[in-house]
Amino acid sequence: MSRVPVIAGNWKMNTTPSEGAELASDLKDRLSGYEGAEVIIAPPFTHLFQVGAEISDSPIKLASQNMSDKESGAYTGEISPKMLIGLGCEYVIIGHSERRQYFGETDFIVNAKLHTAIKNGIKPIICIGETLDERDKGQAFDVVSLQLDLGLANVEKNGARTIIIAYEPVWAIGTGKTASDDQAQEIHGFIREKLEKCLGTEIASETRILYGGSVKRDNVDGLMAKPDIDGALVGGASLNAESFERIVKFKEL
Ligand code: PGA
Repeated sequence: MSRVPVIAGNWKMNTTPSEGAELASDLKDRLSGYEGAEVIIAPPFTHLFQVGAEISDSPIKLASQNMSDKESGAYTGEISPKMLIGLGCEYVIIGHSERRQYFGETDFIVNAKLHTAIKNGIKPIICIGETLDERDKGQAFDVVSLQLDLGLANVEKNGARTIIIAYEPVWAIGTGKTASDDQAQEIHGFIREKLEKCLGTEIASETRILYGGSVKRDNVDGLMAKPDIDGALVGGASLNAESFERIVKFKEL
């Protein structure tokens, strides 16, 4: 089956609210009428209202970069799925490597957030990927496999249909180093086989698997030409409207 490509921009902790609104407005103009990919942007929490208003009359979709695994209550500083949905978020990024690395997010927390997201109707973008040390030791496949087993534990088929997977080798994030097209495809193919075993052929063939890690205008076309690469999760290059536009409008090689 054909999978609609997804290009998602993760702004991380960048831009002020007014800069974010300006970037969103610029993107909206540049991408107006473009239907070649599903476009998602994930601004900081503080920008969601304003950016959401800016893109409300465009096909660009809103995501948050994180979310609580709790639904409501005395959890100071946390943001619930209903709050995000109320601001127009259709997607939430879960388990980004920076959350795992700097904020102690484990696969168990990722799994709890995944279930909370599915239960509340916000679509999860689950991030997985190995570190350089793990790759050098030949453990990349094992690491990704375990992250999938634990992160997707007990997910039901209907919920699984809403999930996007983002493979982001940690050594390629923000470093300028990208996995080669073949290295990325190798892991993407492996992820799809694994999904097939856990969730069946139909869901595995429908699930979009994005690549992330120093995706830029110069490397997006080669990556997108690979059969199991269905899109990109873009960090740095999503902060510039012109470069993000070029990535969204990747050329089918
Ligand atoms: P990068 O970030 O494109 O700046 O490498 C990707 C990501 O962390 O999602």
